[in-house]
Amino acid sequence: MKGIILAGGAGSRLFPLTLVASKQLQPVYDKPMVYYPLTTLIEGGVRELCLISTPHDLPRFRQLLADGSFWGLAIEYREQPKPQGIAQAFLIAESFIGNDAVSLILGDNIFYGADTFQRAFAEFKTGATIFGYHVNDPERYGVVEFDANGHAISIEEKPQQPKSNYAVPGLYLFDNNVVSIAKGLKPSARGELEITDVNLEYLRRGQLRVHRLSRGFAWLDAGTSSSLHEASAYVQTIEKRAGIKVGCPEEAAFRRGFLPLERLELLAVRMPRCEYRDYIAEVVAEAKRL
Ligand code: G1P
Repeated sequence: MKGIILAGGAGSRLFPLTLVASKQLQPVYDKPMVYYPLTTLIEGGVRELCLISTPHDLPRFRQLLADGSFWGLAIEYREQPKPQGIAQAFLIAESFIGNDAVSLILGDNIFYGADTFQRAFAEFKTGATIFGYHVNDPERYGVVEFDANGHAISIEEKPQQPKSNYAVPGLYLFDNNVVSIAKGLKPSARGELEITDVNLEYLRRGQLRVHRLSRGFAWLDAGTSSSLHEASAYVQTIEKRAGIKVGCPEEAAFRRGFLPLERLELLAVRMPRCEYRDYIAEVVAEAKRL
């Protein structure tokens, strides 16, 4: 399974923060936002990644993540010159996807909680897997409707009258057919190739699975100044209480077996003296004790 991180868009709702750094590079508590979705993909076992952003912002992402080899990953980069929709990512990254299945995560989606995703990645074979998360304001999202047996029967993009409170978060798992499906899409009224239309096509084919995320799961949005601040506060609360880090790609790569312990140790040694380094050093020390 390959992985795409979509980190495009103008980030206009975060102006003036986004004048100098894109939304997905803004800090969420103690690390850049993109670390969180990246960590989610690593935890899912994805090692080959493609980051898509604007021509303007791409150099910064390259500076931050390079080719990923120091974390045991392989990261490629592609440009999305204009915000023409999430589903356009499959056209932009066609050569990267090749003949494989592919997961796509939005660069501003932060997830924290149970191992639902890891299981979904491990169990994925064909078709599409998406998720449903109970929210207060479904009209801002793709909304999935379920029948009495819990099967998805409709998905609507930003409906004025949502048929349920279940929003579709920005993490999607697709088989290789997603590329041809994306090629057949027409732009929506807002001029975008909609991910909801891709999901609808899988639903029509009877190949869409929708996992409902449990209450113990957090899906945070960080697209406005308030939600960015709230996401930071949430991460800080968990990290302080539990003494663990949320969204730490080095640790995730180590636990997934992408990065041997010696390399993790070396990464820590090369970091400047800071709390992040202390944490990695602690992960190393703990692993050595076991
Ligand atoms: C996009 C999708 C929507 C999904 C949301 C998740 O919305 O179109 O279906 O629920 O991401 O963050 P957008 O970011 O374009 O408003």
